[in-house]
Amino acid sequence: MPTPPVILAFESSCDDTGVAVIRGREVLSNVIANQAIHEAYGGVVPELASRAHAQNIVPTLMSALEKAQVQVDDIQAVAYTRGPGLMGSLHVGAAFAKSWAWAHGLPMVPVNHMQAHILAHFLEPDPAPEFPFLCLTVSGGHTQLVRIDSPLDMTILGETKDDAAGEAFDKVAKLMGLPYPGGPVLDRLAGEGRSDAFRFTKPQVPGLDMSFSGLKTQIWQFLQQNVQQNDQFVEQRKTDIAASVQHAILEILMDKLEAGVERTGIERVAIAGGVSANRGLRARLQAKSDGANWQVFIPPMAYCTDNAAMIAVAGSMLYEAGFSGDLADEPVPRWTF
Ligand code: KG4
Ligand code: ZN
Repeated sequence: MPTPPVILAFESSCDDTGVAVIRGREVLSNVIANQAIHEAYGGVVPELASRAHAQNIVPTLMSALEKAQVQVDDIQAVAYTRGPGLMGSLHVGAAFAKSWAWAHGLPMVPVNHMQAHILAHFLEPDPAPEFPFLCLTVSGGHTQLVRIDSPLDMTILGETKDDAAGEAFDKVAKLMGLPYPGGPVLDRLAGEGRSDAFRFTKPQVPGLDMSFSGLKTQIWQFLQQNVQQNDQFVEQRKTDIAASVQHAILEILMDKLEAGVERTGIERVAIAGGVSANRGLRARLQAKSDGANWQVFIPPMAYCTDNAAMIAVAGSMLYEAGFSGDLADEPVPRWTF
């Protein structure tokens, strides 16, 4: 049997600089430099993100190579995030990855970040889904329900018409005065509150598409009204608000996931992307495996939020299928498939 290829991968679509090395589906190293600078601004500042990528990329690469215990000669291909993402951030990673590959005479494999979130399910040691399967990809910039027939054949069945689910978490957290990124903070608070304390109405969106901006406006009005009557309202009820908001977001996601299963008849269901780290969403999906006979795939925490191991496995699958790019490939900040 031929030895599985060793792939070096770079991720720089937003505010995390990631470098990983994998052999086949085995992760040899997966290093991430988080950019704390954005916390002070309550959101990602694109210019600062690009500068931080430029500073972090070499030390992150050195650390990933050292941890993986591989020699440069062992590497067969270099994968990198071509898009979607912030233009400046993508440029730093893409230019560096392509130059490094070129200097070492290696193929360079451009990867779609959203497809990579899904393909993270093929990393060892967890069992990989069989084809076809459905994946709800929920991140800070995207929310998509995808049918996967093969690593190279993915169809978006539905997606958000406005804000992404992660964006909804982050924006509501900001309205509540919580630190950025709000998703994980809201998740933690929600675990201590009552999800039926406050009710929000669900948007009516046809088919498998979704919408979160109406919910955000509704919550904003709800907070304003209550704060007018009691300026300590958010502080006093923060866990109940968080649990109710999380419940409202998860209801939208689970409704569409159920509709997708019904429409396609596919009961193999995965979640991916930053919001798949949400404990409430993970529990709701797990319940479907126990109650509705779905076969569910929940990614390990390390592969939910942005990381380069997922870029590596996507790159490896493309490389094995004979795909590679060249120096002329430009980043694609809005890249659908
Ligand atoms: O996939 P990701 O790391 O980056 C993008 O590609 O956007 O997703 C980041 C998003 C942020 O909106 C963050 O608040 C959200 O994922 N997130 C969460 C949790 N952890 C991260 N949202 C809800 N609950 C969490 N535990
Ligand atoms: Zn992402």
